[in-house]
Amino acid sequence: MSFSLQPMQSNGTLSVLQLTDLHLFAKEGTCLLGIDTMQSFCAVVNKIKELNRFFDFIIVTGDISQDYSAESYQLFSELISPLKGHIFFLPGNHDDGPLMYRMLGHYGINTNKHIVSGNWQFILLNSEVYGVAHGWLQREELDFMQECIYQYPDLYTVICVHHLPRLVGSRWLDTQTMHNQDEFNSIIHRLNHTKKIKLVLSGHVHQEYDCMHGDIRYISSPSTSIQFAPQSCYFALELKGPGFRYLTFHSDGNIQTDVYRLDDNLFLPDTNVGGY
Ligand SMILES: [Fe+2]
Repeated sequence: MSFSLQPMQSNGTLSVLQLTDLHLFAKEGTCLLGIDTMQSFCAVVNKIKELNRFFDFIIVTGDISQDYSAESYQLFSELISPLKGHIFFLPGNHDDGPLMYRMLGHYGINTNKHIVSGNWQFILLNSEVYGVAHGWLQREELDFMQECIYQYPDLYTVICVHHLPRLVGSRWLDTQTMHNQDEFNSIIHRLNHTKKIKLVLSGHVHQEYDCMHGDIRYISSPSTSIQFAPQSCYFALELKGPGFRYLTFHSDGNIQTDVYRLDDNLFLPDTNVGGY
């Protein structure tokens, strides 16, 4: 079912806040590679409140949980409550998809997978393969995406999915990508003869990525917890602060975006760890 949302700005411009890869635990105070992910997420929420920058809604692109626990989803719903407005989400490889939809729906967070707003539609896909790091888009997800695009041929389209369907040049991370990304990319490029598909918005790689492939832009964003070092052969963390992204969708199909980070020295990970 689609969720319709009127853009708040009179010129039809739409503003979206992207949060990704929170990796929250059931137990408060638990650290992921030296970073207390609850504290880093709280600091991100505080920074967003300080910025006081308008957004129409929030999209969380997966890995809300690190431990697949019901408590981590309850914690998320509590921690994000200072940010007023609609919140949408999709599962990552560290989430338990069915539990996530059940829990977050129970706490009043929007479980719709299709958002229509102004001249834009947002299609939220589930690339989770339970218990493994890599992703895969099942046939029903690909069919759902095509149905949305066929149903709204005049709308500009953003496809949101946890696993960035591109290689980022990190050998270890590129083994954990969306394993049927070639199929996905060929479908969206074939569907894009009208050039309405503008963006694939992802998480998973815990780093900034912003590249055009053909007529479609692919973006991923910093995690609110740990950051992976770009272009690393083996697992490596980057000493950059947790971050988040704003995206502005103009009614003529243009997109502007800004990444914000906390100060680099506020949340320092343990760089002696060889993986996670
Ligand atoms: Fe993640």
